[in-house]
Amino acid sequence: MLDIYKFDESILGANTPDPLRFAFVKKASPHAGGMATPIKPEQTVSLLNDLYSSEVSKNNKRCLYIHIPFCRVRCTFCNFFQNAASRKLVDDYFAALMAEIKLKASMPWTQSGTFHAVYIGGGTPTDLSPLQVELLGKAIRKHFPLATDCEITLEGRINRFSDEMFERALAGGFNRFSFGIQSFNTQVRRSAKRLDDREVVLERVSRLSQTDQAPIILDLLYGLPYQSLEVFEQDLKDYLATGAHGLDLYQLVVGGNAPMLNLVEKGRIPPPATSAEKASMYELGSEFMAQHHMRQLSVNHWARDNRERSQYNSLAKTYAEVLPIGCGAGGNMGGYGMMNHRTLDNYMSAVKSGDPVVAMMTKQHALEPIFAALKSGFDSGVLARYFLPSFHGVSTFDFFGPLFKEWQRKGLVEVEQNYVSLTLAGRFWAVSLAQACIQVLQLKHQEQNAPMSVAV
Ligand SMILES: C[S@@+](CC[C@H](N)C(=O)[O-])C[C@H]1O[C@@H](n2cnc3c(N)ncnc32)[C@H](O)[C@@H]1O
Ligand code: SF4
Repeated sequence: MLDIYKFDESILGANTPDPLRFAFVKKASPHAGGMATPIKPEQTVSLLNDLYSSEVSKNNKRCLYIHIPFCRVRCTFCNFFQNAASRKLVDDYFAALMAEIKLKASMPWTQSGTFHAVYIGGGTPTDLSPLQVELLGKAIRKHFPLATDCEITLEGRINRFSDEMFERALAGGFNRFSFGIQSFNTQVRRSAKRLDDREVVLERVSRLSQTDQAPIILDLLYGLPYQSLEVFEQDLKDYLATGAHGLDLYQLVVGGNAPMLNLVEKGRIPPPATSAEKASMYELGSEFMAQHHMRQLSVNHWARDNRERSQYNSLAKTYAEVLPIGCGAGGNMGGYGMMNHRTLDNYMSAVKSGDPVVAMMTKQHALEPIFAALKSGFDSGVLARYFLPSFHGVSTFDFFGPLFKEWQRKGLVEVEQNYVSLTLAGRFWAVSLAQACIQVLQLKHQEQNAPMSVAV
C-alpha cells in the first residue's frame, strides 16, 4: 500500500482552488525521466560493439534520430543551440554525417528490424543546402530498413526554406515537415532574434500547406517576452489561417545558458511569463483548439486532420529504441542510453579516426519500461491500466491508486476503474505528474533494495 502522506507538495500537488495555475511551483524540466547509471568510459567500446552486432531488439518499434547541430542565428530563448552555421562547417559536417550513416546502417542490429519513424532534428536541419537535404533523405531510404509507412520528418524553419528545398526534400523522401514558428508576432519574433517578420512567415507557411504535398506542422511557444494573451490568441488564429496540418504548443522553459535571462537582467526586454501566466495561455490554447475541432494527439499536440500522425513524438516517449546519429544526438538501445559527442571537433575527429562517436553511455533504470509507459501515458493525457507493466508483481495502476485519488481531489485527474484521465490542469502539469510517479517508484525501488521483476 502506498503511504502518500510522507510525500510533500512536489509529489502530491498543492491544496489550491486553482490547480491549473498553482498545483505545482513550476515545470522543472522539459521532459520527465528516471535515474540511470553511468557506464565506465573503458567499458563503452565493447558494450557498443555488443549492441551493434546483436540482432535482438527490446521491442519491435524503432526510430532513427539524426542531428544537425547548426543554426544561422541563435534565438534568445533556446537551450538547443550548438554552433553557428557557416557553409564550410556544414559541408564538412555533412560529409562526416554521411560516413556515420553508412557505418551505422551496416551494423547487424540496424538491419535486423524495422524503423517506424525517422526524425532529422536540430539545431536547424533546413540550414543544410537543398541538395544535402535530398541526399540525406535518399541515403536514409537506401540504407535503412524502413516500414512502408515510415514517417520521415525534416525539422527546421521557414527562413530560406525555398521552393527548391521543398522539392528536393520531397524527392529525397521526406513526408513530414515540422517548422519552428514560436510566434507569428513581429515584435515577439524580433525580441527573440527570430528571422523574418509575421507577413513573410504567414505567407510561406500558407503556401507550403496549400501544396498538400506533405503534412506541415508548426511549433508555437507560449510565455515569450511581449507575447501577451492577446498576441498568443492571434498566433493561434494565424496557425488556423495558414491551413497547416498540425500544431505543437510548447511552454517556454528557459535554461541557464539561454541569452534571454541575461537580456532580462539588463532590462533590455521584459521577463518571460510566470508559470501561472503560462497556465492561462495553455488554457486559452486548449480551448481554442477544441473550439476549432482540432484533434488532440497529446497534451501539447493537435492535428487538423488524420494526415498528421506524429509518430516519432509519440514513439520516442514509449519504450521504443532510438538510434542516434550525428553530433549531439541522443538515443537508447537495448536498455542503454547513449549521447554522441556534443562538440563538433570531438565528433569530427571520432568519425575520421573510426572511434565511436558515443561520448557517454548509461544503463537505464531497471524500472525504465514502467517509466516509459508512465511518460507516454501522461503525455497522451490518459493512463490506461493495461498499458502499465506490473511493478514487483502488483498492478502499477493499483499501486498508484492512493496518489491518483489525491490528485483527483486536487482537480488534476479523473479516476475510473481502468483509466486515469488528465483534467486541463493535469494536462498542463503532465510532466510534473509523470515525474512524481517516477520519483515514487524509484524511492520504493531503493527501499526494497531488491532486484525488481518488470513484466513488459
Ligand atoms: C530544437 S528546436 C529546433 C527548431 C528550429 N531550429 C527553429 O528554430 O524553429 C525545436 C523546438 O523546441 C522548442 N524550444 C526551443 N527552445 C525552447 C525553450 N526554451 N522552451 C521550450 N521549448 C523550446 C521550439 O518550439 C522549437 O521549435
Ligand atoms: S530555436 Fe531553432 S534556430 Fe533558434 S537557436 Fe534553437 S535550434 Fe537554433
